[in-house]
Amino acid sequence: MTTNIKLISWVKEMAELCKPDSVYWCNGSDEEFKQMTNGLIGNGTFIKLNESKRPNSFYCHSDPSDVARVEDRTFICSNKEEDAGPTNNWVAPTEMKELLLKKFDGSMIGRTMYVIPYSMGPLGSDISQIGIELTDSRYVVCNMKIMTRMGSFVLDILGNGDFVHCLHSVGAPLKDGEKDSYWPCNPEKYIVHFPEEKTIWSFGSGYGGNALLGKKCFALRIASNMAREEGWLAEHMLIVGITSPEGEKKYIAAAFPSACGKTNLAMLTPTLPGWKVETIGDDIAWMKFGDDGRLYAINPEAGFFGVAPGTSMDTNPNAILSMNKNSIFTNVALTPDGDVWWEGMTDHQEPEKLVNWLGNDWTPGSKENAAHPNARFTSPASQCPVIDPAWESPRGVPISAILFGGRRAKVVPLVYEALNWQHGIFMGSIVSSETTAAATGKVGKVRHDPFAMLPFCGYNMGDYFAHWLKIGNKAEVSKLPKIFFINWFRKDDNGEFLWPGYGENIRVLKWIFDRTNDKDSAIKTPIGYLPKLDSIDISDMDFPIDNLKELLRIDSELWLEDAKDIREFYSIFGEKLPNELLKEVEMLEDRLKS
Ligand code: OXD
Ligand code: MN
Repeated sequence: MTTNIKLISWVKEMAELCKPDSVYWCNGSDEEFKQMTNGLIGNGTFIKLNESKRPNSFYCHSDPSDVARVEDRTFICSNKEEDAGPTNNWVAPTEMKELLLKKFDGSMIGRTMYVIPYSMGPLGSDISQIGIELTDSRYVVCNMKIMTRMGSFVLDILGNGDFVHCLHSVGAPLKDGEKDSYWPCNPEKYIVHFPEEKTIWSFGSGYGGNALLGKKCFALRIASNMAREEGWLAEHMLIVGITSPEGEKKYIAAAFPSACGKTNLAMLTPTLPGWKVETIGDDIAWMKFGDDGRLYAINPEAGFFGVAPGTSMDTNPNAILSMNKNSIFTNVALTPDGDVWWEGMTDHQEPEKLVNWLGNDWTPGSKENAAHPNARFTSPASQCPVIDPAWESPRGVPISAILFGGRRAKVVPLVYEALNWQHGIFMGSIVSSETTAAATGKVGKVRHDPFAMLPFCGYNMGDYFAHWLKIGNKAEVSKLPKIFFINWFRKDDNGEFLWPGYGENIRVLKWIFDRTNDKDSAIKTPIGYLPKLDSIDISDMDFPIDNLKELLRIDSELWLEDAKDIREFYSIFGEKLPNELLKEVEMLEDRLKS
């Protein structure tokens, strides 16, 4: 137990507000996990999967209204509106609290309030941070056990120190004797951050990033505020280690919008002989400068909360192997023999009959998908066959390159490199991508998603750009990571992808790897350094050189149109937009016109 007065009195105060029947302090043990999963089975939330096929694993499906992050219900309640900026929803903290205190009042009646102590990041790392989540959802407890380092030991590390206050309720109090729903939630949802108080209040949803508050809410929105104050970076980035056939190892961090293949890149199985890719993390990176002046990164999470559809032994065998036990599957389909299935799981035939993500019978040929496009698996990172030996290193790993990318059918080439740090920050700021099912709303619409942080930056994005520029100004240039932009998703005129992606992406990573060693394998173009045609190794591949030419083609007219669009996007930041970035658009336009 704890003697932390702040913690004890906060738990008491929140319990008085939410009025749960009881308060339970989670110890994080396997025995406790079993009790929780048994409770969820009893409630009709979990179905235990076939123990001989997938030990200690569970299927569940959510309420059809609660399937993704709700960006339009997500708020940054900083004291001043300008600190939330034009890309966030803002309500004054006092007003929001007044509203939410009414929602939370009695919201846990008939339920237990679970107190979850958790560490984001390896124990003993000075980059790690502690959070406490109060929740009335056992589903959240089970997922937090996989996604974070959770348990009583965190209270020992915390001592009398400070922590991020996370309050979560599904917003579905139970009347005396009322039967619980299999997926309790509330039609009204609020995902609210009070950055100055390092506090998160989440109401109404039980799903993913809305409810597992260590992930997007803490590790990105609150942590980006902390990082800004303290001179570090909290980013929506995967981290991988890449070893060349000569045995040289480098680490790369990469930012892509949600559901654009971060998990696949993080666990890539290289098709080029002799190359090795190992995983540090698939979604979030916290980066700080080390004593040697280099940028070091940790993965604050301990598990993967990956998109299931499309994941197969062909596309991402390491993800499939990571989830072969101790995993939770949400909104996938259930097979008659008690296993899971989803669209694109090509390693075995579509089963004859399934229970779909809505819990209904489903047969092949049905118009509806069996799994929801944002169906997820939750699996321990330690189960990944290619987990990097340094993934729990308290110091983190030194980053040699930072990649930005988006899902763009046209305009953006397969890969290009920044001319310098400032140009790299410009490249990060102009990420745009087709929207996916990871958030509610229209899918396939191109939107600006700077640094893949649009839904996750917890403060004014203009200030965020300035923070990245400042990081570069403070550092020794030769020690900074090089910056690249990649686009696996370019299509030809028939709408077919030009690049095969997945394991073949190692060919692009190899070029990047060589460039971090200053290899002379690039040509300078108006948009940055592009690979010389023969420097992307496709020699052993049945791949037409014309396709590679097309993938690397720059259409100045289209880029000039993009530049116009960038100017328009930039205009929303008003005076907060750093001048350096406006200068970068001007320079880009000049280079394209000359
Ligand atoms: C995620 C997301 O769940 O980005 O990682 O939506
Ligand atoms: Mn993500």
